[in-house]
Amino acid sequence: RLGHFPLLPVPSPPCQPLSHVGTFTIRLLQTTTFQNTSFADTEGLGLLEDIELGSLDKHTWSIHLYQRWVRSALPRADWDTIEKLIKIYLYRFNHLINEGAMQMEVPYPFVAQCIAGCVLYPNRTSQAFVYVGYNGQDFLSLNTKNATWTLSQDTTLSRYVQSFLQNDTAFSEMVEMIFNDTCVDEMEMLLHYGRAALERQELPVATVFTRSPSLDQLLLVCHVTGFYPRPISVAWLRDGQEVPPGPALNTSPILPNADLTYQLRSVLAVAPRDGHSYVCRVRHQSLGTRSLLIPWGRSHS
Ligand SMILES: *[C@@H]1O[C@H](CO)[C@@H](O)[C@H](O)[C@H]1NC(C)=O
Ligand SMILES: *[C@@H]1O[C@H](CO)[C@@H](O)[C@H](O)[C@H]1NC(C)=O
Ligand SMILES: *[C@@H]1O[C@H](CO)[C@@H](O)[C@H](O)[C@H]1NC(C)=O
Ligand SMILES: *[C@@H]1O[C@H](CO)[C@@H](O)[C@H](O)[C@H]1NC(C)=O
Ligand SMILES: *[C@@H]1O[C@H](CO)[C@@H](O)[C@H](O)[C@H]1NC(C)=O
Repeated sequence: RLGHFPLLPVPSPPCQPLSHVGTFTIRLLQTTTFQNTSFADTEGLGLLEDIELGSLDKHTWSIHLYQRWVRSALPRADWDTIEKLIKIYLYRFNHLINEGAMQMEVPYPFVAQCIAGCVLYPNRTSQAFVYVGYNGQDFLSLNTKNATWTLSQDTTLSRYVQSFLQNDTAFSEMVEMIFNDTCVDEMEMLLHYGRAALERQELPVATVFTRSPSLDQLLLVCHVTGFYPRPISVAWLRDGQEVPPGPALNTSPILPNADLTYQLRSVLAVAPRDGHSYVCRVRHQSLGTRSLLIPWGRSHS
């Protein structure tokens, strides 16, 4: 786990620039598997909120964009510059890690991961972030305010990489510049061109069914799927009153579908034939002020 980032904001009224009303995050994810001193495999992915912008070609380190509007957002020369910076960065990153691994006699293979990006707030200020992981554990992070690296784990390897990064001011400055200035400038353009994708709304589809794990227990299942954006509210009403959180109520995490919509289920345990009426209530941005109400009752209708 390398951090927590804000969800999509509420949609803006028409004609208002998006960047004024929401908090937006660009994240670049990198996973490099070091097989041995001469062979490393790199995977890279760029995200704006939960939308995949593009990925890195494993072999050539060139950028493969997923959305037509992403290419339009920046002039050709900017894409060339970004691609060049990524290649320089990856080359130096691999060199630095291999150097550290040899000095510290770190056994191969191992995995290094980075998550870096910037957050743009509604007040137009921004915050950059860089986190480094080693074999699935937090390792180092960059304080963008004073350009220093903080240890997330205190090992001889993390101390070595920290001191190396602190010494290599050109590398730190490049990282800082990319995520301080470039990231924010280009985010403004992406928000403009990606507006339709960011404002996309998909209606939730809800179904209610039952399971009976034993004779004296009935599970009412409300399954909600196909919605976008991610934030949603799903509740059970007993005789019109919302059932409060408790051991009888069990709501799953929100899970992704393959088409960039989401799903979840809320399960309420009740006694069979308890004489109450039950309704699953769904609230979502795409429904406006309306709610989706799916009843389950003694009539099973
Ligand atoms: C490094 O790993 C690669 C991929 O597993 C392999 O093809 C190559 O022979 C290895 N090189 C050395 C020097 O071990
Ligand atoms: C802008 O908003 C962020 C997030 O709410 C806050 O942390 C920051 O202090 C604000 N900056 C200014 C200058 O108001
Ligand atoms: C840099 O900032 C971090 C957190 O903001 C702080 O913990 C650290 O002591 C600072 N380092 C220096 C050298 O000022
Ligand atoms: C960083 O610089 C300090 C002081 O010059 C030196 O003692 C240290 O070995 C250097 N670290 C690395 C990893 O090169
Ligand atoms: C990055 O942003 C911080 C805070 O806004 C600023 O102090 C620093 O000088 C910036 N660094 C670069 C390289 O622009």
